[in-house]
Amino acid sequence: MIPQRRQRRRIPGTAVLVVSFLGGYCAGEATAALRRARAARRPAKEGRRIDGRHIVHSASDAILSIDNGAVIVFANPAAAHMFATSVGAMQGSTLARFIQASGSDARSPLDYFPAGGGRAGRRATDYAVTGIRANGQLFPIEGSISSVEHEGRPVYTVILRDVSERHLVQQKLTRSHDQLRQLSSALQTIREEERTHIARELHDDLGQLLASLRMDLTLVRGHKHLSSASTQLLEGMENNLLTAIASLRRIATNLRPRALDEGGLYFALQGLRDEFVERHGIACALLADEAELRLDDGASTAVFRIVQEALTNIARHAEASSVVLTLDRSNHDLLVTIRDNGRGISAEDMEKVESLGLIGMRERVWALQGEITIGADEAPGTRIDISIPIAAHSRVEGPAS
Ligand SMILES: Nc1ncnc2c1ncn2[C@@H]1O[C@H](COP(=O)(O)OP(=O)(O)O)[C@@H](O)[C@H]1O
Ligand SMILES: [Mg+2]
Repeated sequence: MIPQRRQRRRIPGTAVLVVSFLGGYCAGEATAALRRARAARRPAKEGRRIDGRHIVHSASDAILSIDNGAVIVFANPAAAHMFATSVGAMQGSTLARFIQASGSDARSPLDYFPAGGGRAGRRATDYAVTGIRANGQLFPIEGSISSVEHEGRPVYTVILRDVSERHLVQQKLTRSHDQLRQLSSALQTIREEERTHIARELHDDLGQLLASLRMDLTLVRGHKHLSSASTQLLEGMENNLLTAIASLRRIATNLRPRALDEGGLYFALQGLRDEFVERHGIACALLADEAELRLDDGASTAVFRIVQEALTNIARHAEASSVVLTLDRSNHDLLVTIRDNGRGISAEDMEKVESLGLIGMRERVWALQGEITIGADEAPGTRIDISIPIAAHSRVEGPAS
């Protein structure tokens, strides 16, 4: 294999022009003067050829030529501007005054651009390094380094770009992304709290009222002197009342299953599975251990909502005939797998802009610092794998009372 550093020595096109110019510059005043004199004698046609000096002087990137001992032998005006100093002050100084070395014993220019370590940037040959302005201010730089032999000695050309602005924009983007995540997570929590509140009100208020109406109705129906028409009417009323109680329970459970607050995640998932099988006629196995699923409210709710969304998707899109839900605890992680034997999910399905179900699942997992993979790797069907660190989310059992 050819070492990276050697590969960098082959510089095509304009770069050759720049590097050969820089090499000539190092050779000293005499050579330069000779070239200037030759150039003056050259016919007009040759003078029209592109001059490397103009390219280097007018380049917007900083260009440095450095000798083997990391001393700057040439700097262009853009370099002086970038480091807030003058070309004169840069030439003759060591590179260490302007670029932070990765180790304390940096000698060669290559030590300032360590292979492997700082590689980052738009091109594979770019390095991320830290620049030092004349006033001591540090700033991020992206740059490349290459070398040519000049009179038996290597001459290094370093091209640098100040990326402070890009870093600032990236930081702002990251911050705004984090804020959006926090907002989304806060909205989920508020929504869950509202659902819990409404479900409780429905159950406690309306549920109690309907139950007492039913009791009253039973008393009235026990009355001796009722006409057959009244008995029929009361029977119809009781049937309607029973339907209303069942609907209310269903609505309240859909909002927030009581099992989640009273029994725990395992029982809530059992209820979800039973309802799914009954409603859609799709077989569904729940492989889990109740004791392993005693989690705090945040984690239980998140896992429950993820499984709920996955089952809704299976019913709506998968055309599956069976589903397996597996929840396993391994060391400090909860591993959740949801598998169906349906038509499978494609990459385009997962990128649908208007689909928020899968995005919501991912957000819930990431909010718990977990990982999620969704794919159709085991044909047929779709498989969702989730791993959530739950050491901090296990429910602490109080002493038995
Ligand atoms: N289990 C599944 N099997 C097949 N396709 C699926 C499955 N789950 C999701 N999909 C596909 O992924 C898409 C995105 O899902 P989702 O984000 O939940 O949005 P929505 O359900 O509102 O369409 C669905 O429209 C569907 O095409
Ligand atoms: Mg969906």
